[in-house]
Amino acid sequence: MKITKAVIPAAGLGTRVLPATKSMPKEMFPIVDKPAIQYIVEEAVKVGITDILIITNRGKGIIADHFDRTPELEKALDKPEKQEMLETVKNISNLANVTFIRQIETKGLGHAILRAKNFVGNEPFAVMYGDDVIIGEDPAIGQLIRAYGEFGKGVVGVKLMPEEEMHKYGSLKVENIHHNVFKCTDMVEKPATKEEILSCYSILGRCVLPPEIFDVLENTQPGKNGEIQLTDAMREIATTVGMTAVEYTGTRYDMGNKLGLLQASIEVGLEHPEIKDGLKEYLKNLVKNL
Ligand code: UTP
Repeated sequence: MKITKAVIPAAGLGTRVLPATKSMPKEMFPIVDKPAIQYIVEEAVKVGITDILIITNRGKGIIADHFDRTPELEKALDKPEKQEMLETVKNISNLANVTFIRQIETKGLGHAILRAKNFVGNEPFAVMYGDDVIIGEDPAIGQLIRAYGEFGKGVVGVKLMPEEEMHKYGSLKVENIHHNVFKCTDMVEKPATKEEILSCYSILGRCVLPPEIFDVLENTQPGKNGEIQLTDAMREIATTVGMTAVEYTGTRYDMGNKLGLLQASIEVGLEHPEIKDGLKEYLKNLVKNL
């Protein structure tokens, strides 16, 4: 079955990057010259996703503005020497059918995803966390969609994380099927002790979920941090029908984390045709004095 819908939860409070996120959504932090969320929408579009629901909250109207037309700006750019930038600006609003819904209260990622029930209907859909930018040749969400096609089960995108950091992530019980693809039969959100860690494979930024997740979410009680956790709902599916985990290729940048957003700017900047030479020179001089 072709997956054409994606949900991007972007209603978190971004407390790890305060005070920047007091009035600016972290999803709008730029990586060189594009906001994080545009990289995510472009990743979705590359694999044939046509309909995208972005879950926002108060103060995040700027995200909707970014995907809207800007007649005054377009008029100002409509000059022979500015045609390329005019096209770039216009194309943003034509990338996909992007719609928005608000999560009225910040009650967790699971609660945010439940807002997408009517949008999704009765088909599998992609979930792309609004603060996780993944850069790579082969779009990460496409790798998950292929695994959905292969096994017909919900898929989580995973990476191996250091054991001492596992208390911040979801930990999965996995069994290798082939290459970077695993069977996932259990998971736990933010394991509090070493004994609770099922493995160092963590869910990072991308999932493909069956529509049954909504029935589960409707009955999911608040878990860690008093929030309705998506991991708790996925656990129900993993322990019954089972799920698939894909250790996707590509580099993930956590835009909700101070170091992550600096790494994103530097690494993407080093590949950017306009600034890579200048940035390389600057970094070389800088490291001499570190
Ligand atoms: P995070 O836990 O990384 O985001 O959620 P956060 O809550 O903003 O992080 P803190 O405050 O720095 O710890 C993962 C994704 O889920 C979204 C976030 O916007 C992020 O994209 N989210 C989280 C929601 O949409 N709603 C919520 O209630 C919680």
